[in-house]
Amino acid sequence: MALYALGDLHLSFQTDKSMDRFGAVWKHHEQKIETQAGRLIRPEDTLVLTGDHSWGRKMEECREDLAFIERLPGRKILLRGNHDMFWDAAKTDRLNAEFAGRLFFLQNNFAAYEDYALVGTKGYTFEGPFYLDRRGRILGWDEEREKQARKLVDREIRRLRESFAAARKAGYRKYIMFLHYPPTNILEQTSPFTEIAEEYGAEAVVYSHCHGEARFGDSIRGMFHGVRYMLVSGDYLDFCPARVK
Ligand SMILES: [Fe+2]
Ligand SMILES: [Fe+2]
Repeated sequence: MALYALGDLHLSFQTDKSMDRFGAVWKHHEQKIETQAGRLIRPEDTLVLTGDHSWGRKMEECREDLAFIERLPGRKILLRGNHDMFWDAAKTDRLNAEFAGRLFFLQNNFAAYEDYALVGTKGYTFEGPFYLDRRGRILGWDEEREKQARKLVDREIRRLRESFAAARKAGYRKYIMFLHYPPTNILEQTSPFTEIAEEYGAEAVVYSHCHGEARFGDSIRGMFHGVRYMLVSGDYLDFCPARVK
């Protein structure tokens, strides 16, 4: 058994939002996903997809994208990304009922992997605007937007705590935590998300959302305060699922 993760598939089988204009790495990226997942993942393995699955705005515009994900090998667990408009967090149970045995939607719940609980939520972090000087050093930022961001962080923290609490109540003591957004913004060393990961002793925090060379280093990668941080954005990994466990 193995645990893999990959984020930001940005599929568009039913929309005309091609990702090709974002660079060569996105050319035929769905074929890369299919080939590399097919090569790596066995039926008994688990693949966590960390959000931004589809460009479709409503479920009816996402059906083919979700069917593509369903056809990938292994058990598939999905996390919400900022682009996943088809997924109302409050109606996750409905999605889980509809896709039972095919896809699992991780939100205010958890999934078991061996003796680990896979927990998570979309997360949130302030992404600017930042005001820079000529050398690219940060001089300030939009404080109103930053205040707004803090409210969204609070909501996501509540959702993450719900996920951890459900796992703990079920008897789990080992955790792997998934976020769509990076756990910290470019100003932060730590955040409420890193603190919760440490509080629960999560073994790893896996996230995506960061696209393009300039953004890959926005948050923590590698070991920090005893927790392993992994960036699994599709374009960062050239769409090859990363082994988490
Ligand atoms: Fe994305
Ligand atoms: Fe995103």
